[in-house]
Amino acid sequence: MSKYAEELRNTAKAMVAEGKGILAMDESNRTCNKRFDKVGVPTTEEMRRSYRELILTTPNLSNYISGAILYDETIRQATKDGVPFTQVMKDNGIIIGIKVDTGAKDLAGHPGEKVTEGLDGLRDRIAEYYEMGARFAKWRAVITIGENIPSNACIEANAHALARYAALCQEGGLVPIVEPEVLIDGDHTIERSYEVTNQTLHTVFDQLYRQDIAFDQMILKPSMSIAGKQCPQQSSVEEVADATVECLRNNVPASVPGVAFLSGGQTNEQAAQHLNIMNAKYAQECPWRITFSYARAIQQSALEHWRGDNSKVEEAQKLLLHRAKMNSAASQGKYSLDMEKEAVAV
Ligand code: 13P
Repeated sequence: MSKYAEELRNTAKAMVAEGKGILAMDESNRTCNKRFDKVGVPTTEEMRRSYRELILTTPNLSNYISGAILYDETIRQATKDGVPFTQVMKDNGIIIGIKVDTGAKDLAGHPGEKVTEGLDGLRDRIAEYYEMGARFAKWRAVITIGENIPSNACIEANAHALARYAALCQEGGLVPIVEPEVLIDGDHTIERSYEVTNQTLHTVFDQLYRQDIAFDQMILKPSMSIAGKQCPQQSSVEEVADATVECLRNNVPASVPGVAFLSGGQTNEQAAQHLNIMNAKYAQECPWRITFSYARAIQQSALEHWRGDNSKVEEAQKLLLHRAKMNSAASQGKYSLDMEKEAVAV
């Protein structure tokens, strides 16, 4: 048992506290630059710093957000007045999280498939992040649906890496967010998404069990069971909620404190609606909290409004807070599309 067991248990519970979810802002420099490019923001370290300052200094963010996931560059940065971001987060009661994988790379011998890297030297990096104040971590595995893929080799290699990462995190005092993302890209049906997500979660929990992971000291970050973006037959909000919850109930041990979804390219409204129905319809029947760990579905409207213009910071923060609030409501089954009209007069 980890010497941090008690702390890990408490952190995991706090991450998925009632009415709260996790803010993912851990885009690698490459991904962040891609998003900046699309809206015409210069791709410099200073702009990435300014943008992350905008997010972390949003007033009242902690009403809806329990913790935020940072990238290695970000955890070392500070506000323009020199206050370390880690200090800003501590002062605002936001738990510090850190992405520790080093990205999804081509899986040898399996064209079109990826395996996530980052285990080498991970014990030392975890120790450094813990020292800097981090209390949870994230590792994202990517599963692609296509013709004859995913292969068992891809699912198994990724599940094994997730389990070894989770073991190192629990040893070093960080709650592991275990993120097996089945991509929404493609023309697959919701049934196919369910089947692949089911196999992936089954394999991931088998590997976590084999590596002696304490299930009450981790958070699962899955994708939803949902038709591919290019599939002509799109499902209703309720069908997505039903399939997603069924898949989780078949695979996720009751002692896991929380399931915090990624948004995966869904629109803001879809991400909130799906989360909302899952809670409204199934919260009583599920042993774990069901909440969000969104990046795009919280950040995107703020980024598009800001576009690097510092006179727009306050308005962008309002947009960000609005999305956090909508998803907080959804995590309690209290969201409706009507609520989108409130606030946000920017
Ligand atoms: P999205 O919500 O934009 O999918 O990002 C979540 C995340 O952290 C992916 O790793």
